[in-house]
Amino acid sequence: MAFETITVETSDDVCLITLNRPDALNALNSTLLKELANALEEADASDKVRCIVLTGSEKAFAAGADISEMSDKGFVEMYSEQYFAKGSERICGISKPIIAAVSGYCLGGGCELAMMCDFIIASDTAKFGQPEINLGVIAGIGGTQRLTRLVGKSKSMEMHLTGRFMDAEEAERSGLASRVVPAKKLKEEAMATAHKIATKSLLATRAVKQAVNRAEEVSLSEGVLFERALFYGLFASDDQKEGMAAFLEKREPQFRDR
Ligand code: HXC
Repeated sequence: MAFETITVETSDDVCLITLNRPDALNALNSTLLKELANALEEADASDKVRCIVLTGSEKAFAAGADISEMSDKGFVEMYSEQYFAKGSERICGISKPIIAAVSGYCLGGGCELAMMCDFIIASDTAKFGQPEINLGVIAGIGGTQRLTRLVGKSKSMEMHLTGRFMDAEEAERSGLASRVVPAKKLKEEAMATAHKIATKSLLATRAVKQAVNRAEEVSLSEGVLFERALFYGLFASDDQKEGMAAFLEKREPQFRDR
């Protein structure tokens, strides 16, 4: 599939999707969101792909939703179109793990997109923020909810109310980013991490994603029940037999996603 606003490369079993609107610091417009959702769904359905990396440029992961696309819209148009709702729901529906590799600006809708991924690896130049307050609006694709779950109420509230940017070190310390790497190594580190995940059983990595994401939706006891059902279910797979046999035989497992 040919895309206008993103590039897609598959290397072995990892799909690398790069946001590609350099003139607008990768601002998310309707075309980009639709293309991204299409590319992610294609990767999710592919027999070859086992993990996905989503990245931007060195200067910007994405500097937010495209202000020029939104500025003239009124309530009726935004509401009737359900602006960005379908695209973000499609992105959140992907079952394979997605790593956000973030360098430079990761603001507004860009930060919200990064938080829809399964975890964020940040370069030491990354700057996260929810600056919608400066535009007279608030986050619109999950920022108030996801940032609060990740960093807690106090920091989330401050970020949303002031619009200040958070550097990579603070993002890691507060739980927004899983780790920080030098900017020059970001893609390499994210791809290495994705290739490592790709060596695992896809049945198990999908189950991890479902179970961890469930933690944000339900009570602890419901979440533990859900995890247990998935855990027991994995004992119906060949990969569980192979993984445990390989450990006992002191060799590397050969998973077949069965
Ligand atoms: C449209 C954008 C953009 C955006 C940058 N650009 N951010 N265009 N939407 N969100 C464009 C600029 O207009 C400019 O285009 C080019 O990218 C380079 O940006 P500069 O501002 O010249 O770069 P710099 O001085 O380095 O400043 C970088 C920046 C600043 C600090 C990131 O661009 C900025 O504050 N951007 C807006 C950030 C923001 O408010 N994001 C939240 C958006 S609302 P030209 O043509 O002039 O070169 C949102 C809501 C989500 O995300 C909800 C969705 C439903």
